[in-house]
Amino acid sequence: MIDYFKRALAADGILTLTIDQPDAQANVMDRHFIDGLEHHVNAALADDAVKGVLLTSAKSSFVAGADLKTLEASLAEPKDAATLYAECRPFSALLRRIETGGKPFACALNGAALGGGFEIALACHYRCAADVRSLRVGLPEVGVGLLPGAGGTQRLLRMLGVARALPLLLQGSQLKAQAALEMGLVDAVVPAEDLLETARAWLLGSPDPTKAWDRKGFRVPGGQSPLEPAIAQLFLGSNAATGAGTLYNLPAPQAILSCLYEGMQLPMDKALDIECKYFVKLNLDPVAGNMIRTLFINKGKADRLMHRPQGVERRVHRKVGVLGAGLMGAGLALVAAEAGVDVVLIDRDQAAADKGKDYARSRLARDVEKGRSTQEKMDATLARIVSATDYALLDGASLVVEAVFEDRAVKAEVFARAEAALAPGAVLASNTSALPITGLASTLARKDAFIGLHFFSPVERMPLVEVIRGDDTSDEALAHALDFVAQLGKTPVLVNDSPGFFTSRFIGAFINEGVAMVAEGVAPALIEQAARLVGYPVGPLAISDEVGLDLAYKGALQRARDGGPGYKPGASVPVISELVVRHGRHGRKNGQGFYDYDAAGKRLWPGLADIWPRAENQPSLEEVKARMLYAQLVDAARCMADGVLLDAADGDVGACLGVGFPAYLGGPFAAMDTLGMPRLIERSEQLARDVSAERYALPELVYQMARSGQSFYGKRALTPPARRKGEAR
Ligand code: NAI
Repeated sequence: MIDYFKRALAADGILTLTIDQPDAQANVMDRHFIDGLEHHVNAALADDAVKGVLLTSAKSSFVAGADLKTLEASLAEPKDAATLYAECRPFSALLRRIETGGKPFACALNGAALGGGFEIALACHYRCAADVRSLRVGLPEVGVGLLPGAGGTQRLLRMLGVARALPLLLQGSQLKAQAALEMGLVDAVVPAEDLLETARAWLLGSPDPTKAWDRKGFRVPGGQSPLEPAIAQLFLGSNAATGAGTLYNLPAPQAILSCLYEGMQLPMDKALDIECKYFVKLNLDPVAGNMIRTLFINKGKADRLMHRPQGVERRVHRKVGVLGAGLMGAGLALVAAEAGVDVVLIDRDQAAADKGKDYARSRLARDVEKGRSTQEKMDATLARIVSATDYALLDGASLVVEAVFEDRAVKAEVFARAEAALAPGAVLASNTSALPITGLASTLARKDAFIGLHFFSPVERMPLVEVIRGDDTSDEALAHALDFVAQLGKTPVLVNDSPGFFTSRFIGAFINEGVAMVAEGVAPALIEQAARLVGYPVGPLAISDEVGLDLAYKGALQRARDGGPGYKPGASVPVISELVVRHGRHGRKNGQGFYDYDAAGKRLWPGLADIWPRAENQPSLEEVKARMLYAQLVDAARCMADGVLLDAADGDVGACLGVGFPAYLGGPFAAMDTLGMPRLIERSEQLARDVSAERYALPELVYQMARSGQSFYGKRALTPPARRKGEAR
């Protein structure tokens, strides 16, 4: 056994167990960790010389949570319920032994304790937290489709009562030290240097190592039984709200509710057993596996820059340029300045450039107002942004991102001016949402320094950046662009060049299908509701209005010009053209799109039925749902087959973080694996017969995978047929 625990028994009988995983930045809960904890807890309980136990960590965080490698291995080799239960239950029982072993345990939280780490802390009899900014406690398991399975639901319930425990568990809230103190989840918050002494002092005060719920007559705060009217109301309301919020696509919130409902009626040990069974049930559901893989494992790999070419020295960007101070440019300038980077924000005239800086000012002022920042910090961030029209100010910038109008001529003009001002070695990037990068580079002298950095709106909130490698983009430019994304704290996915790259084209497949159904006479409300029920945050007609029907129309004209003689417009194009050209409906911006907008809100425009009369036989809800979902699955499979994507992980992370693909499905590739290739083929072929042979034609790659029993992930994972740099498409 590799021992992660350093043991120090003082003369006063206080045993300090310091968790210090060798050769690691943080302590993670792998087999060695769990075996070590069990060994030391059992030894401490059996040793008469030990009067109390102090648990702490030698790292900057307490325990970082589950071990990624273990998680990934268990995804590749799913286990059955009995095996999972046999593996999980003993850990919960071990924490219960800490609680009931008869000796006081104190936990000194020097940094973040989330998930399993916080469950260990909750089992202790006393928790003190260091007053440090990075400290967070909480049980975020719901975010990856799970629940805390080692007592978290039952201890929170018994400490806080249903009304206060439920929101924390259902939202997976992470609390700072002071908030945790106010909630009663930690007993003290002290300066970091006093942490250990505070915990020791508590242990030396002869505390009673019995939890409230192990004493006779204990009542759960706020109500003991779901039959009490106030508690019954709470469960009724929460059940309905959870159903409405998740549309029953996510099993974890429902299971958390059940854990509390059932657990509060049982003694602790029985309740812990129930919790473990729900935990196992969620583990067996593909939702948890897919969410863990995409939102935790693959996102983690992307954040660690898995595609960064080796051998290129890391670049810390200290000064960058942003061309175009509109919606995207202003957001970009703000996030770069907040990351400590100096920004030159350029627009056509000084007023437009200043307007971009004003955007940053108003956002920062709001943070100060809400107490999330200080005036001093705001001033320092704003001082980093210089709004200007003079390209000479770009001198010394290591990277420039262009965010001017989506127009090749305008972009070519600003590229030329930026290139003239930049030193060799600087990266020139475009934030275009769809124009192929290789073509945009054609007017440049240094095509190898050019790359796509596709940010999403609003830049301050959206975590994803789609990095597009052009045919000529060098390893250096790619590495340094990825360094910039990491500096901003965003998650990069890498794709090869192609019209619409991955994300724009992928969301386009969804919108195209939704809009096409309007022309077929499918009730618009059915389309919008079906999308919401699949789990898309917004329906395809509402998104079209938000983006702007006029912009979609212009984009279609551009694609027609680019596409050459073989180009066929998407099925949505005639609908959009009709609305824009004949009816002047441009979307939300002019209050008229698929919806009418006024002060009271928005309603689907009744005139749609006059242009496209309602079909007598409406398709079933399931069919409408399947049409939108499968349109995207087929498109994602094509992106893989065509080498637009290098890795299924990029597609899944990009889809969930960038363009609202339902996270519970884990992305299109995880969803296809869950369906299995044979079912994917069967359903797509059915849709090809019923609706459109072209839109639902799966690439040969999927048929090959079905024949050879391959999947996108796991033991029989496909090796992506990704294009090499410069290879013909
Ligand atoms: P916008 O219209 O809000 O801003 C464009 C800015 O560029 C304006 O301030 C304009 O004055 C400036 N500009 C135009 N010509 C210029 C020139 N010759 N020199 C300097 N500045 C010039 O547009 P938005 O939405 O910020 O989009 C910018 C780019 O980002 C486009 O390529 C767009 O496709 C892309 N994009 C937009 C997203 C969105 O949600 N709006 C999302 C992702 C990418």
